[in-house]
Amino acid sequence: MPAWFDEGWAHIWLPYTQMRTTPPSLPVARTEGSRIFLDDGRVLLDGIASWWTACHGYNHPVIRAAVSRQLELMPHVMFGGLAHEPALKLAARLAALLPGDLDHVFFSDSGSVAVEVALKMATQYWINQGEHGRTKFLAFKGGYHGDTTGAMSVSDPDEGMHKLFAGLLPQHHIVDLPRDEITARAFEQTLERHSGELAGIIVEPLVQGAGGMLFHDAEALRRLRVAADRCGLLLICDEIFTGFARTGTMFACNAAGVAPDIMLLSKALTGGTLPLAATVATGKVFATFQSEDPAHALMHGPTFMANPLACAAANASLDIFAAEPRLPQVKAIAGMLAEGLAPCRRMAGVKDVRVRGAIGVVELERINDLVGLKSRFVEAGVWVRPFGNIVYLTPALDIAAEDVEFLTGAVCRVLNA
Ligand SMILES: Cc1ncc(COP(=O)(O)O)c(C=O)c1O
Repeated sequence: MPAWFDEGWAHIWLPYTQMRTTPPSLPVARTEGSRIFLDDGRVLLDGIASWWTACHGYNHPVIRAAVSRQLELMPHVMFGGLAHEPALKLAARLAALLPGDLDHVFFSDSGSVAVEVALKMATQYWINQGEHGRTKFLAFKGGYHGDTTGAMSVSDPDEGMHKLFAGLLPQHHIVDLPRDEITARAFEQTLERHSGELAGIIVEPLVQGAGGMLFHDAEALRRLRVAADRCGLLLICDEIFTGFARTGTMFACNAAGVAPDIMLLSKALTGGTLPLAATVATGKVFATFQSEDPAHALMHGPTFMANPLACAAANASLDIFAAEPRLPQVKAIAGMLAEGLAPCRRMAGVKDVRVRGAIGVVELERINDLVGLKSRFVEAGVWVRPFGNIVYLTPALDIAAEDVEFLTGAVCRVLNA
């Protein structure tokens, strides 16, 4: 281990990790493209693009150059009362890119905070119109929206890591996605009973990521739009995982022809280089905050919101999307993942194999030894991080064909063993 590791490791507290029993993290020297270069000389092919962020691979020269230029000019300046070109340019570009009239961009610094802002925005949308009783949300089983208190409260209450904090969390209505007649009826009943206290509906469109890489079809999403319109509720689409081509269209909502009232972006927004998130609202939502009354202003303001370095990285990432064929690449990756993971279908203990865009999933009956499985992937030369009963691949969108083949081959080999 390098000296910096030995000196610092005892002082680090890792995410979702039992610090007493966890094996030491792998010291990383550098990254490049889809590769992680470890300090001991080993090289891992990254199958998950650093929690789905590095959509153009690591160290893309266009992003590096843009961030370097911005670093010379101004790494940061507060966003209250001061404006800068990277943020205003990015807001205008996002407004042009997003469906419908999602034209008003509130920047923050992580996905969970973007969710918190959306929940407050939707609640205050009603308060500003004189309705104080609409403080509940309709959300979905299998959903995951982050680890802050509000975000946990609209995530699946039983699955995953949020059960522990049940006593802390505000109670919302968490139901099945309306996938078929039975779930659609239950969804409508909940709406009927509670629509008077609801501010909005929050969903991860087409793919529920951290809740289990669960897919639903465009029709389910369209049902939510129709129901929200009928009840006058705001539809919030959390595209923090699905946004920026991951599911095969630039945003998952595009595939359903659905435009939400509020959309959330983060992760691949900066090409996975710097922390940045956006809560983007329509003109209808924004209009309810326009008034002579200062109390009608949106009551939120992260210190590092619209950080110029992060905005410069995001603008560069959008330049890359415009210049490089990401959507055709995702289509090609989808085909390769489907073919490469197909042999897993025949393996004992495999429940399902599914692919959507650049997301390939092998769902197992269960994983008995998660730590052991993770280390076997490292031994196979790949960075793959199973969770729950899920092994998945979400590589960089510009990954080489032979690298996808290596990843799927490693998944098949490790699971077979
Ligand atoms: C759909 C979705 N929403 C919100 C979040 C939270 O984002 P962050 O980890 O940046 O707070 C995540 C993170 O995985 C996510 O997948």
